[in-house]
Amino acid sequence: MIKNKKIEQALIGQIKNEEHSSRLYMAMASWCHANGFHGASKYLFKQSDEERAHMLKIVNYVNERGGHATLSELDNLTDNYKTLIEVFEKILKHEEFITTEINNLYEESMKSKDYATATFIQWFITEQLEEESTFQDILDKMRMTGSTPGGVYWIDRELAMIAAGRG
Ligand SMILES: [Fe+2]
Ligand SMILES: [Fe+2]
Repeated sequence: MIKNKKIEQALIGQIKNEEHSSRLYMAMASWCHANGFHGASKYLFKQSDEERAHMLKIVNYVNERGGHATLSELDNLTDNYKTLIEVFEKILKHEEFITTEINNLYEESMKSKDYATATFIQWFITEQLEEESTFQDILDKMRMTGSTPGGVYWIDRELAMIAAGRG
């Protein structure tokens, strides 16, 4: 049982964060498609699915422990970007915010001696580490080449390869 209501609420807050991430990446994927970045679009649709899987993981965890995973109202997001690099800059910033949220959740569970939740959250800590480094990598490549039309074309193809599992 999740005895501590504060922890249950914090987990529900993280469900919202993951759902927001999923929606954000879907909006970005759609923008990419509409603007001719088909590789980036495929890649971001996939990221959106992954964030939804993160959300489901927490929903199941809360319910399996006798809580009730409710859904929250989502924040508004923008559908417009100027450049592909702006999209990925926003993603990295967003993931850094999510990492802070995950760290707070871990700290809160430790303080409450809810070791089961702390252990559960460890998976997300590792996941955030991976995601931040992946997005940083993409951004580095974009900064190196992205200002030229050829560079943008190349990075879009790179992202298509990663999305297809060949990157
Ligand atoms: Fe996530
Ligand atoms: Fe993420």
